[in-house]
Amino acid sequence: MENLKGLILSGGAGTRLRPITHTSAKQLVPVANKPVLFYGIEALVEAGVEDIGIIIAPETGDEIQTAAGDGSQFGARITYIPQEAPLGLAHAVLTAEEFLQDGPFVMYLGDNLLRDGITDLVNAFRESGPDALILLTRVPDPEHYGVAELNDERVVRLIEKPPEPPSDLALVGVYMFGPVIFDAAKAIEPSGRGELEITDAIQWLIDSGRSVASRTVTGWWKDTGQLDDMLEANRLVLEDIERQVEGELIDSKVEGRVVVQDGARLERAVVRGPAIIGAGSRITDAYIGPYTSIDANVTVERAEVEHSILLSGSSVTDLDSRMEASLLGKNVTLCRGATLPKTLRMIVGDNAEIKIP
Ligand code: DAU
Repeated sequence: MENLKGLILSGGAGTRLRPITHTSAKQLVPVANKPVLFYGIEALVEAGVEDIGIIIAPETGDEIQTAAGDGSQFGARITYIPQEAPLGLAHAVLTAEEFLQDGPFVMYLGDNLLRDGITDLVNAFRESGPDALILLTRVPDPEHYGVAELNDERVVRLIEKPPEPPSDLALVGVYMFGPVIFDAAKAIEPSGRGELEITDAIQWLIDSGRSVASRTVTGWWKDTGQLDDMLEANRLVLEDIERQVEGELIDSKVEGRVVVQDGARLERAVVRGPAIIGAGSRITDAYIGPYTSIDANVTVERAEVEHSILLSGSSVTDLDSRMEASLLGKNVTLCRGATLPKTLRMIVGDNAEIKIP
């Protein structure tokens, strides 16, 4: 299977991460200071899939193209495929039909992260060549995902976000397909939420007697579509980082696995890893606790931040209580008004300004 292509879905509306995604693509929100989308591109390249199409939406497509470029930074060739509206994952497949040219492909949802990559799975697909290979994992809340019902090892039924899930096996957002998936996507009708569901297309394959294989994911998997999942993905990725301090430390303590990128400056700061501080950031008279990702050009002064993601250009100053489990968009200013000691928890969009009473 020489000509295996990749298709990353990076369109959609991102409604569940609003307001961050009012102005930015959800696939570009950084996890450990790297856009989620880049993990997907890297996973495909690692699996030997270098010819990659990326589905983009009219609102966020430009931003995605600017970030990922022609793919050369990843050792890939990227073709951008505009989808006029988020009409479903199977609609995205049909939109990419010309790019995919009736060949087998790996489809990767641009907001998904898999710790162990997809190389083993792609190899398994290359060897056995079923009409579809899907990935499954056990989750505590299957009603939020596509859910699979197995009979022995065989997939017998797939249902999209069932209120009463028949199992706890969720469909992970990485799928491998042979060309018959185009027939399936053309045969199905839009679902209750008005989308052409890939889950229904795969069910069509099953009903037509086609070979649908499944594998269980080893290592963790995260769909970063919501705030808590994003923070959890950030925590899991930071869990694996190595210490690398390149920025400037002045009277500061950096404990454990911490990355301080070149051009960052810490003054009278304590950073307890795992954490990452981006280039150009200034951390002064402040504490940065575990599981925190501070992007480039962020200021934290006289404040404590833990288990949070702060996007570039943001500033957090003079907090009385520790900020935790928060996601700040780009250029957010968070500073002190009057005093009220409580922990802060928020999801804040780009260019917002917040004053705490
Ligand atoms: O993450 C795994 C889940 O992904 C599966 O368990 C579900 O079966 C599957 O339907 C999907 O569910 P979501 O509701 O999470 O999909 P979402 O709308 O978030 O879209 C996933 C990605 O695809 C996201 O990066 C946006 C992109 N997308 C989505 C739609 C609907 C497109 O590019 N075009 C689209 O039309």
